[in-house]
Amino acid sequence: MDIILLGPPGAGKGTQAGLLENKFGMVQLSTGDMLRAAVKAGTEVGLKAKALMDAGELVPDEVVSGIIGDKLDELGSDQGVIFDGYPRTATQAVSLDEILAERGRKLDHVIELVVDEDALVVRITGRFTCGNCGEGYHDTFKQPAKADVCDVCGSSDFKRRPDDNEETVRTRMTEYRAKTQPILPIYEERGIVTKIDGMGSMDDVSQAIEAVLAQN
Ligand code: AP5
Repeated sequence: MDIILLGPPGAGKGTQAGLLENKFGMVQLSTGDMLRAAVKAGTEVGLKAKALMDAGELVPDEVVSGIIGDKLDELGSDQGVIFDGYPRTATQAVSLDEILAERGRKLDHVIELVVDEDALVVRITGRFTCGNCGEGYHDTFKQPAKADVCDVCGSSDFKRRPDDNEETVRTRMTEYRAKTQPILPIYEERGIVTKIDGMGSMDDVSQAIEAVLAQN
């Protein structure tokens, strides 16, 4: 099963994709994570992406569509995928259709996480991750059981994203409203969109997503 998780910054796409990976063995394809890895590695893609990401603006369509196609080629055709943060523009939506069709795949569901933007600023500015294993935490909503120690790997090396400040978050939300939200009708016409209340607890959101996937 191939699905898209759609929603503004901080809606919980990464959180829910991680839960689906653990529970169902699906693979999360996050263009944000891939771009951050490219920035860290100092690749050509990373060099192109860094300033745009730091400003909260979108990276060019051909760059992200290229990396998505490459990643899909590394997976088996029966491996279910969660697209997290892709597509984000009408051009990317067209590219995704082509990328999937070329590989004999199709989209089963588009899940839109419906959220309150002001609450998202709180979510994002409080977010941090373990620099060693990538486990996600939040100053208020998900603290490590023992202060400053990762629950999963025991590391004390925590990191915050450079684009997780209020000003950049507001730009990312403006980009979402202007360029990403308008692609929803493409999928609504196909009857594959489900809207889920993303303001519930992580468990509630997760259960709502699982109920959608159980329809297949
Ligand atoms: P990307 O990495 O995709 O960032 P984003 O879309 O802004 O989304 P986030 O990762 O910030 O949020 P999320 O929805 O995953 O929320 P999370 O689960 O972490 O993109 C970054 C940048 O890369 C873009 O700005 C752009 O420059 C570039 N880029 C990426 N893809 C691109 C593309 N396709 N085209 C062009 N450019 C692209 O949750 C947030 C916090 O809330 C966490 O702390 C979490 O613990 C907490 N939380 C989650 N769910 C809940 C809940 N239900 N209740 C309480 N807290 C919760």
